[in-house]
Amino acid sequence: MNEKNKILVIGSANTDMVISAGHFPKPGETLIGYDFMTNHGGKGANQAVAAARLGGDTAFICKLGDDSFGHSIMEMLRKEGIDVSYSSVSDQASSGVALICTIPSGENSIIIDSGTNGLLSPDDVMAAEPLFAEAAVMLMQLETPIDTVIKAAELGKKHGACVILNPAPAPTGPLPEALLRNVDLLIPNETEAESISGVNIQTDEDVAKAMDEIQKLGVKNVIITVGCKGVYARINGKLVKVPAFKVKAVDTTAAGDTFCGALCVSLCKGNNLEEAILFANKASSISVTRRGAQMSMPYLNEVNV
Ligand code: RIB
Repeated sequence: MNEKNKILVIGSANTDMVISAGHFPKPGETLIGYDFMTNHGGKGANQAVAAARLGGDTAFICKLGDDSFGHSIMEMLRKEGIDVSYSSVSDQASSGVALICTIPSGENSIIIDSGTNGLLSPDDVMAAEPLFAEAAVMLMQLETPIDTVIKAAELGKKHGACVILNPAPAPTGPLPEALLRNVDLLIPNETEAESISGVNIQTDEDVAKAMDEIQKLGVKNVIITVGCKGVYARINGKLVKVPAFKVKAVDTTAAGDTFCGALCVSLCKGNNLEEAILFANKASSISVTRRGAQMSMPYLNEVNV
């Protein structure tokens, strides 16, 4: 890690509309659910909020709509102490929205209208170059246009940041080499790792094989998160499995986002990868015990106990 200590997140911000139900609706089925709620979400905003709540000096670049959802998100990001000086508002689309169904096992299914997230452009990130120059760690996901993600990774690398990509949602095709060559750390979940590596993951050996395949694509380091089973990383050439904390999960929405934001905070403090994974595991284990995305994210005093 370099001597800088800022975390820069580039990505999406959504309003999540959540309904709980006994099971996911089948095609053609109208299901009566319960406990409707709205809360702030979007993988980018979630990761920025997780980092800020855990003490990270955080900046976030996103594109919001000029509507009540967009204004509410901007206000919330400021209240969380996040630098949004290079986030912008567009009247060319509505703010992003996610419709989420959660079921008693804690699993969810999500459908997104990207709205203005789809308008975040390479020019937007280029205009924010001063933020890249200050960043120790840069974190991105795949809910904004791929050209923008490629440009952000390039700028992060140019300024010496540790470039982290959470490839979520799972890519439908191969990730461009122009992106992967600038990624220092890739954090997929099991499904994303399978889709990127082409390896069906059942065993520890499969995890190792998937990591090999991903590293062959040009990525330096890989952490694979496998939900309640924990996290795999290859540290000093050795496959390490860090078990998850045992908790009763009520809603896993944004657990991966909490993990990524928390990991950045710990790495920025100079901790090694194994220490950072432990801290991030603790943070995400708290988030799954509560409903919602940003609503569920812990503060530092809850993780440092
Ligand atoms: O990772 C969870 C997030 O995915 C939700 O907050 C939703 O907005 C989608 O972006």
